[in-house]
Amino acid sequence: MNDYVKFWNPAPSDLRQMIVNPIIWDQEIPIHADLIFNTPFTRLQPDFTVLEVGCGIGRLMKHIVPQVQSSCGVDISQTMIEESHNYLRGVPNVSTFLVEPEGAYPFVDGTVDLVYSFLCLQHVPGRELLHHIYDEVFRVLKPGGVFRCQTHAGCATDSFAGYVGSWYPSAECLAQDFVGRGFTVCETQTGLGYSEWLWATLCKP
Ligand SMILES: C[S@@+](CC[C@H](N)C(=O)[O-])C[C@H]1O[C@@H](n2cnc3c(N)ncnc32)[C@H](O)[C@@H]1O
Repeated sequence: MNDYVKFWNPAPSDLRQMIVNPIIWDQEIPIHADLIFNTPFTRLQPDFTVLEVGCGIGRLMKHIVPQVQSSCGVDISQTMIEESHNYLRGVPNVSTFLVEPEGAYPFVDGTVDLVYSFLCLQHVPGRELLHHIYDEVFRVLKPGGVFRCQTHAGCATDSFAGYVGSWYPSAECLAQDFVGRGFTVCETQTGLGYSEWLWATLCKP
């Protein structure tokens, strides 16, 4: 296991503390969901299959599942996926899957309506791994399906190991990285949520 994957596999007791203050984390669920799904391109529909890349324990998945047909998540952390089984116990129509950073997602091509990724891409070390995520998202999306993602502006820092990643100077640069991979750009946003957050919403034609 490389250091990056190791970082996201802490002892279960350190799991939530390691992410962020757990009380704020829970209180912010509806705020974060609003940032992701309250756009003209990402409104949830009752017949939607929705996928989160970097789902963690399934915090956002659990919040949105009453509004969709199924809410799925993939994550590279075995600890997070194990904890998701506790957090999501008894919740219908949710499923989480452990994936390798370079692995395929357990979905058939063209079967997902909407994919989102929140507080994840800024941690991914290197454009190659990011491009792998974008290509897998493209593969599993239905034609006309949408990917909404958030990452950080600026330079990666090693002051907090989990933040080491490949960041973008602007939302336009983030969106541009998808264009060569088949996506079209629906919109880009900067500073929504936090000033350093970048957002891009992409469509599979
Ligand atoms: C800060 S947590 C956010 C979890 C969730 N998105 C939320 O908002 O509650 C970041 C998550 O991204 C996951 N992650 C990091 N790199 C990943 C990758 N390449 N593919 C999938 N998940 C990844 C980590 O294991 C961790 O669970």
